[in-house]
Amino acid sequence: MCGIVGYIGTEDAKEILLRGLEKLEYRGYDSAGIALVNDEGVHVYKEKGRIATLRDVVDSSEEGSVGIGHTRWATHGPPSKVNAHPHRSVTERYTMVHNGVIENYEQLRREYLANVEMISDTDTEIVVQLIDRFAKEGSSTEEAFRKVLSLLKGSYAIALLDNNDAETIYVGKNKSPLLVGLSDGVNVVASDAMAMLHVTNEFVELMDKEIVVVTRDNATIKSLDGDVISRDSYIAELDASDIEKGTYPHYMLKEIDEQPYVIRNIISKYKTDDETIKLEEDIRQAMLDADRIYIIAAGTSYHAGLVGKQLIERIANKPVETHIASEFLYNMPLLSENPLFIFISQSGETADSRGVLVAVKELGYKTLTITNVPGSTLSREADHTLHTYAGPEIAVASTKAYTAQMAVLAILAVDTAKAAGITMNFDPLQELAIVANAMETLTDKKDVMEQIARDYLSVSRNCFFIGRAADYYVCLEGALKLKEISYIQAEGFAGGELKHGTIALIEDGTPVIGIATQEHVNLSIRGNMKEVVARGASPCMISMEGQEEEDDQLVIPHVHEYLTPLVSVIPLQLISYYAALHRDCDVDKPRNLAKSVTVE
Ligand code: M6R
Repeated sequence: MCGIVGYIGTEDAKEILLRGLEKLEYRGYDSAGIALVNDEGVHVYKEKGRIATLRDVVDSSEEGSVGIGHTRWATHGPPSKVNAHPHRSVTERYTMVHNGVIENYEQLRREYLANVEMISDTDTEIVVQLIDRFAKEGSSTEEAFRKVLSLLKGSYAIALLDNNDAETIYVGKNKSPLLVGLSDGVNVVASDAMAMLHVTNEFVELMDKEIVVVTRDNATIKSLDGDVISRDSYIAELDASDIEKGTYPHYMLKEIDEQPYVIRNIISKYKTDDETIKLEEDIRQAMLDADRIYIIAAGTSYHAGLVGKQLIERIANKPVETHIASEFLYNMPLLSENPLFIFISQSGETADSRGVLVAVKELGYKTLTITNVPGSTLSREADHTLHTYAGPEIAVASTKAYTAQMAVLAILAVDTAKAAGITMNFDPLQELAIVANAMETLTDKKDVMEQIARDYLSVSRNCFFIGRAADYYVCLEGALKLKEISYIQAEGFAGGELKHGTIALIEDGTPVIGIATQEHVNLSIRGNMKEVVARGASPCMISMEGQEEEDDQLVIPHVHEYLTPLVSVIPLQLISYYAALHRDCDVDKPRNLAKSVTVE
């Protein structure tokens, strides 16, 4: 969470930083700030709220070709101007922005800063005050910076300005993402390459516990001991147009619409010239060698993992457990002898998943990350990576990443089955092509989904989604989508489980959305729907061709039974989108959330 940027060059830093922060707003949007350096020193502007609010308070005549910026997702201290970054040291010599959580900040404060009066509630302020203290005691800024970073426990990506040296930005990282961008006489710093594509597409990746001394002409990477480290830069393969909304009113709608293209893209990336599955031999072998697979993920990616379990077990006949990342280490199951851990993460940065990755690597187990961001932390640190090729997902509510994850899991399951000599009558590449067409049919029916949202969700305070088998997993995702962007209390339930308690919540007019795509449970889910209707619920049945009944509100095109979640989720995404829109919610940036959850 939180995004940071830095710029040192020849142009007006203020506009470059603000544009960069706008691109990072998905990482947090509680408050924002920038610091600009010019001949008169360092000038800080910060405000509670979005970058648009910050823009209003930045003095448009303030010049400066060096600066740093921050957009915050609050952890220590509520969203407020005083807790907004940048933070300054007591002497105002140092100005700093930080993404991450300093776990030992209380202890550092007691040990080193007992006499310093803190201005904010943040953990960040301890760091900048401590740098100031060590500098006062005689360390150079770089020495003080390295010394303080060696004392920190937790996660950080930091950018620091020294009022006495307007020509340098000091940056450092541990666990939180950070890149340095290079250009001619210009260097930049960003949490994500997307933020600085308007300046450069050449970046250098930083590893944990490294710092970089960034000037206009150099970016020198060093260890915390001061040893210089050399590393090649790379060209970010991102198209600036991928991260623009174009004519769409919201990223979420654009990303929902992109799903058919994403699925076709996945087919092309995972297909050999002979139309068979293309997958690295090492990954195939890791799947074959595993006696049990543990899928670890959070939120929407966890829901994709539940579908993944079904796919791998049914197709490849291999046992799979899917676990919520944040619970796994506290509630670890008995592991099999030769497990493979699969991490599913759109961002590849989720701290809960990374915590598990680090722990299971220490235990010596094999790991595979399925991610949308190949250079991300989870991708770098796992033994293998499978890319979901969904393109940047900007809206906080995940849509295309979810369907892409399930598509890749289906391909992986079939590849494993084939390598194990299992014969089957299911070609995932062909079937995914049918899925892409079905998705297109549904994204063309937005008016139907808008009407459903209007009819069922314009005034209700709660909503239930019920389904069985794979449809149950889609219900969990549909409920998450609805609650996170419309703030309607929503729950996904296995159809048969309602009568064990939750049915008590059904009253006159309670919307219940049922999913019926699976032949073997069609009758039973319809029975469950009758149970809630008998208690006053307002039913909305979404079925698949072949399973439909006359009164169903929506019938989705027929696709292979293994792949129905990729299609049945589309109406749920669109219904959530319109429900949020009708309630005037901020669809792309829902309250209290951030796209990339890099704190535990
Ligand atoms: O980047 P990840 O896939 O690891 O993120 C996991 C969750 O934070 C994420 O899926 C979250 O639940 C989405 N906002 C849901 O739309």
